[in-house]
Amino acid sequence: MCGIVGIVGSRSVAPLIVDALKRLEYRGYDSAGVATFVDGKLDRRRAEGKLVNLEARLADDPLPGKTGIGHTRWATHGAPVEVNAHPHFSDGVAVVHNGIIENFRELREELEADGFSFASQTDTEVVAHLVAKGLRDGLDAKGAAGAAVSRLRGAYALAIMFGGDDGLIVGARHGPPLAIGHGGDEMYLGSDAVALAPFTNQITYLEDGDWAIVRRHSVEIFDADANPVERKIDVSTGAAIVVDKGNHRHFMHKEMYEQPEVIGHTLANYVDFNEQAVVLRDSGDASNPVDFAGLPRLNITACGTAYLAGFVSKYWFERHARLPVDIDVASEFRYREAPLQDGGLSLFISQSGETADTLAGLKYCADEGQHIASIVNVRESTMARASHSVFPTLAGPEIGVASTKAFTCQLTVLASLAIATGVQRGHIDRATEARLVGELSEAPRYATDALKMEEQIRTLAHDLAGKKHVLYLGRDTNYPLAMEGALKLKELSYIHAEAYAAGELKHGPIALVDDEMPVVVIAPHDRIFEKTVSNMQEVAARGGQIILITDQRGAEEAGMETSRTIIMPDMPELVTPIVYSVPVQMLAYHTAVHMGTDVDQPRNLAKSVTVE
Ligand code: F6R
Repeated sequence: MCGIVGIVGSRSVAPLIVDALKRLEYRGYDSAGVATFVDGKLDRRRAEGKLVNLEARLADDPLPGKTGIGHTRWATHGAPVEVNAHPHFSDGVAVVHNGIIENFRELREELEADGFSFASQTDTEVVAHLVAKGLRDGLDAKGAAGAAVSRLRGAYALAIMFGGDDGLIVGARHGPPLAIGHGGDEMYLGSDAVALAPFTNQITYLEDGDWAIVRRHSVEIFDADANPVERKIDVSTGAAIVVDKGNHRHFMHKEMYEQPEVIGHTLANYVDFNEQAVVLRDSGDASNPVDFAGLPRLNITACGTAYLAGFVSKYWFERHARLPVDIDVASEFRYREAPLQDGGLSLFISQSGETADTLAGLKYCADEGQHIASIVNVRESTMARASHSVFPTLAGPEIGVASTKAFTCQLTVLASLAIATGVQRGHIDRATEARLVGELSEAPRYATDALKMEEQIRTLAHDLAGKKHVLYLGRDTNYPLAMEGALKLKELSYIHAEAYAAGELKHGPIALVDDEMPVVVIAPHDRIFEKTVSNMQEVAARGGQIILITDQRGAEEAGMETSRTIIMPDMPELVTPIVYSVPVQMLAYHTAVHMGTDVDQPRNLAKSVTVE
């Protein structure tokens, strides 16, 4: 993770770097720092904790200079303390880094033997010393940076500055993304285009293995074999993005409330409302579309909440399209050496499009000759650019670290894809397609109704706040939604929560249930509702405190029309995972607010996980 920024500027850059880092704080917020070139040498300010602390430090002790680099950190090697904050210095060299240097131990031993002493516990510091060693050995800045990078194993996006050369930053990328921004009289580097949006929308994305010599009016790019290469300049849409909470207390709250609108936008990209038909808009390589009709198998890979969206869709693809689906968390899939069927489709789901494990899974499948499709929210992301087929979610920028609107938009795309696949494979006739599309089209309206239950959920959340453990139960598509509920509660409120398929409870986890244990049951009245009622009775008989999220009929049949029942509007089964996400998110949100945790930036987390 971590966010990096560099500016070769024509004005004082420290405030500009801090401004850009604010747009990258979603990548990590354990500590931050900035270094500039001042009076012929490098200087820096660093601070533990969030960027406001660095801002305060700079206000007390400003840092002049027209060339600078900055960093916001998500700690991997070494505690989140100031001494480990970037930029890291060696003799005449400053480095900021996103990623993990896997061979840092052996490099550190070698450098220590060579007389370099280390001030931090980070892996990054070896890069600073390696570059300094190159300079000491008589290489110029470019040669020293190139020699250092050639020694690194692992994942890195780097920005390197030199005490002997104002007006130069070297950037390098292997794994995590790095974008170069072209200004009139300045050049920029950043982890993404959004960070650079206040300065320019002219963006060059470095390819994997590239490194670049960035000066005030020029950039030279080299590939991994040190051959000069041309990379095109894209016009980024990031500049249009306004990062603003509006009148909401948290970004997460705003993003939950945006869901009816963004689900609607996303839907409009995939269905023809008049014809009540799915129109697949693949914004990938038009000459190589997915052949859903002939697919033998679909394998889905993602992490966290995006994985759970994929898990919901397994039920849809198998039920509506009779397409067998394998689904994995990417961190397991990437090393599992799964045999993949010829002609298969590998689908990757990611809000950021930069998650390291998911990208590694994508590379594995591409090497195995699979058709690669991705569902991403950031259209310019590495994942989108590495896919044959791209199905964007139109959620807009998601700032809250806990994913909400990206999840419901992923579900919206997946439901559309499942219907289209069913049609193309001959399992959904025209009338059924029209019915299913009609049902899906109602999702924004139901989501609006669900948002109106906020007051009731806020009250219920009082009961969860302060608990030590919470169980979540669901069946069918509501099982992965139960997992999403437990994940949201854990990450936001730090309460331990686990989800089980409701029928699995009796095979062990029921031993946990006593009169201290809240059990959130997600169970709209559906084909298997009665089965879930039996499981609830098993919980109730052991004193478990049930919070039931259901509809009117479900509440009546469960015999639980109490203050602990959230009664949702009646809706078709297809849209329930999308719409029931809203109370599930709100319950976690309000529990966290009651407990006073940092909702938008929970401890230990980061929005974009670009390390494995
Ligand atoms: C949880 C959450 C994470 C992400 C996961 C994948 O609220 O946001 O679990 O879903 O880190 O991130 P992306 O979707 O960017 O690949």
